[in-house]
Amino acid sequence: MTKSNNPIGVFDSGVGGLSVLRSICEQMPNEDVIYFGDQGHVPYGPRSMKQIQDFSEGITRFLLEQNAKIIVVACNTASAAALKYLRETFTEMQFVGMEPAVKPAAEKTQTGKVGVLATPATFQGALYASVVERFGAGVELFQHTCPGLVSQIELGELDTPKTRAILEDALLPMLEKNIDTVVLGCTHYPFVIPLVEQIVGENVRVIDPAPSVAKQVKRLLEAGGLLNSSGVKSRIQIYTSGDVKVVESVLPKLLNEAALVKSATWKNDREIL
Ligand code: DGL
Repeated sequence: MTKSNNPIGVFDSGVGGLSVLRSICEQMPNEDVIYFGDQGHVPYGPRSMKQIQDFSEGITRFLLEQNAKIIVVACNTASAAALKYLRETFTEMQFVGMEPAVKPAAEKTQTGKVGVLATPATFQGALYASVVERFGAGVELFQHTCPGLVSQIELGELDTPKTRAILEDALLPMLEKNIDTVVLGCTHYPFVIPLVEQIVGENVRVIDPAPSVAKQVKRLLEAGGLLNSSGVKSRIQIYTSGDVKVVESVLPKLLNEAALVKSATWKNDREIL
């Protein structure tokens, strides 16, 4: 039986989902969290939908074994490739996923021109097409996949000349088109918001969906009577399929919370040992 003091499960291809975890900790300081970063396979963005779906299924099984009471797919790419499948396959579990925040952007833009930064798989998925169809009417969207940006963020290179060059390549042409809003459609990108803001200037709004996703997690837990009421400060455990030392070394740049980092190994594309 699911219990209120069980952990929240969160996963991403790497450190990106920590931008969502950060908001979860701010809004729900008593919740334990088990986070899975699939550094062994990062980046997901250029991979096939089938492969990302297999990884997402394996990670979901792993989080279920850790007694997760809800699972946050803190990755736009995995949400695009697998959210529907996960909901159909694990019918007992509640999932919260991500979709590029075109809706709030369309509501707020004055120029009617919005930039969207996300991975190739996210742009190819049915989820993005549906978001554009539902909320993008009357708005011109400019898309960019920011090649190499996820890897820079995995290395903790949040403000280096290479990272700046990748962002300038994406954003400068959009500024010429008169965008006034930028949607961060990949959970890695909120970690470079200071750099994005330097490039776009103060007249362009940057949308990070993490706080609304955390709010949705809280709403669902509350509705199911699953909020942790123990009053004990949360414990964060991070599993990585990559190198524990690398994750430990970038963590202080990404998260203010203390977290224990452990290793997890893939047996095959769908099973974690
Ligand atoms: N953080 C991810 C996202 O939100 C995935 C990035 C990647 O692995 O390519 O899309």
